[in-house]
Amino acid sequence: MKLPPGWYAVLSAADLKPNKPLGQKRLGEDLVFWRDQSGRPAVLKDLCPHRSVKLSGGEVCQNGKHIACPFHGFQFDSQGQCRHVPETGKEAPNLRVKTWQSAEKYGFIWLYVPKDDNETGSEESIPWFNELQEKKFCYSEFSESWNIHYSRCIENQLDYAHLPYLHRTSIGKNFDVQGKYEFLLDENSIKLVLKSGYFQFKFANIWYLDISPTLKQMIAFVPVDDNTTVMYVRAYQAFTTLPLVEKLVGKVLAASNRVILNQDKAAVITHKPSSSLLASEEKLYPSDRGIAWFRKQFSEKAVEI
Ligand code: FES
Ligand SMILES: [Fe+2]
Repeated sequence: MKLPPGWYAVLSAADLKPNKPLGQKRLGEDLVFWRDQSGRPAVLKDLCPHRSVKLSGGEVCQNGKHIACPFHGFQFDSQGQCRHVPETGKEAPNLRVKTWQSAEKYGFIWLYVPKDDNETGSEESIPWFNELQEKKFCYSEFSESWNIHYSRCIENQLDYAHLPYLHRTSIGKNFDVQGKYEFLLDENSIKLVLKSGYFQFKFANIWYLDISPTLKQMIAFVPVDDNTTVMYVRAYQAFTTLPLVEKLVGKVLAASNRVILNQDKAAVITHKPSSSLLASEEKLYPSDRGIAWFRKQFSEKAVEI
């Protein structure tokens, strides 16, 4: 897959349980995630180099240090090195599985896409939104999978001109599409200030909507492959911390977000071509400035991984 380098939020941290490998396709590759002995995520290509079955069907062993393949029990550590072959009782220095640099932060598991094989990412550079750092917020989350390239899902969230039409029965009812809105752009982020609130996108794959001082939203757009995107959608609220009320508020916010996203989905999954990077025939309008920015940054940065 062609992707801009950087940190990608790829999995909700809550989905990665201790002592249980999890197989997920992300960034164009089948991957196995598990937590090592200290709870840190380890991420390997989900393919055993012995006879090519999925490691994710195996088990975490050696107190979280290794993952054992389900077929013949070869064990691999979090660096992908084969540490035990049952037949020889030894390590196998020539057997290694490709690994990905990973981290856990802000309730997500992140993967780093390097510019080249020698580069590593610093965990301090994991992008986030200052507004969500405040302790008063708690969030509810759900995920969706759409059959379309992730560029189209991101561009949909940078496109304000569809609000009063596609969302005319919901959030777009009174939106002034002829208004002048300010875009703040740099290489890695874009911010659009609307009359009420603002939204922001940061490379590689996170988006934020500031609705009010006590209500915010964020989405991580996870590239699965060239035709599939998983979205983690979170509503952050600071109305209440009472556990039962918080749960209920979370459910209501998730339900209303789903209604809006379903309106988007009906249009977005019909894009052709699937990736906007191949959409050279499209005629962009001034409101599409965010989309033009995204395409330029994406095509300048992207590397084949
Ligand atoms: S295929 Fe994995 S140990 Fe044999
Ligand atoms: Fe929308």
